[in-house]
Amino acid sequence: MKSIDEIRAEIESFKIENAEALEQFRLLFLSKKSELQSMFGEIKNIAPEDRKRFGQMLNELKESAQRRFEESRISMDDVADAMLTIADMTRPSAPLPVGSMHPISIMMNQVRRIFEDIGFNTETGPDIEDDWHVFTALNFPEEHPARDMQDTFFVELHPDVLLRTHTSSIQVRTMEHQKPPIRVICPGRVFRNEAITSRAHCIFHQMEGLYVDENVSFADMKQTLLYFAQRMFGPEVKIRLRPSYFPFTEPSAEMDISCNICGGAGCNLCKHTGWVEILGCGMVDPNVLENCGIDSKKYTGFAFGLGIERMTMLKYRTNDIRLYFENDVRFLRQFKAATR
Ligand code: PHE
Repeated sequence: MKSIDEIRAEIESFKIENAEALEQFRLLFLSKKSELQSMFGEIKNIAPEDRKRFGQMLNELKESAQRRFEESRISMDDVADAMLTIADMTRPSAPLPVGSMHPISIMMNQVRRIFEDIGFNTETGPDIEDDWHVFTALNFPEEHPARDMQDTFFVELHPDVLLRTHTSSIQVRTMEHQKPPIRVICPGRVFRNEAITSRAHCIFHQMEGLYVDENVSFADMKQTLLYFAQRMFGPEVKIRLRPSYFPFTEPSAEMDISCNICGGAGCNLCKHTGWVEILGCGMVDPNVLENCGIDSKKYTGFAFGLGIERMTMLKYRTNDIRLYFENDVRFLRQFKAATR
């Protein structure tokens, strides 16, 4: 037979965490067959002078057990009520964490917006291309060494199928289906067989521009590109065109902007020249116009292709191109404020 003190200690230390425990508590201390209840039957065996005190203690114990039981039941009902509230479908949901746009997407949208403001439409094309759209139509003869500058990934069983090395393939697709005047910009992912370093990657993004109409001149190209550079990097930015070579433009140039980090004085980014290259450009070669069914006697045009990663690195001053492909949220979260 347990003592009153033992039973009191048991009542106090009993853990009531769920409905099963509550029922267990009731069976142990409150039901007719419980030890506590059976102790009331012992009153008659107690010495008469102690009976009153013993009875009082038992009653107090029973009351405290009853109190714990009621309190626990009420708090459990609260939980059940709360569960019902959660199930209320009309209740506003907890806010979802909102991510940020990828810096490459932010940059693509910015470039697009600048050109859309002067009447360029957006065109896209497939990442997986054929030889014609990436090379042949763009005046890269088969076996010509110019193809080596843009080595890519071919499908072994189907050498005509390859990953595009530049967005210039979209120029071809656009000219095949539209007649001048043509004014398009073409964003897209491109691929090259390159070793991955902090400055180069086998995947990157370009934005192509193409303008074909009667009397389009080199001066039009230069002014368009100056407008772009100043809207992107600020009115104080300067541009310079260096003669270059692309099979699909003649004449061709490489465009540099004055270094926005040192302001032209010379730093690591611009390799102490004060200039950073951002795009290739030129007047569309008449052969390319003819390959795409456009009369090269009547129409002229200019084209340019800019590297989005390079621009993003310049604009946000990051120094490793691999960061854009690693999906490390610690890097990506930093662009939250720039997301538009
Ligand atoms: N397609 C060229 C490249 O990827 C860039 C370019 C585009 C040059 C359009 C001239 C005209 O290097």
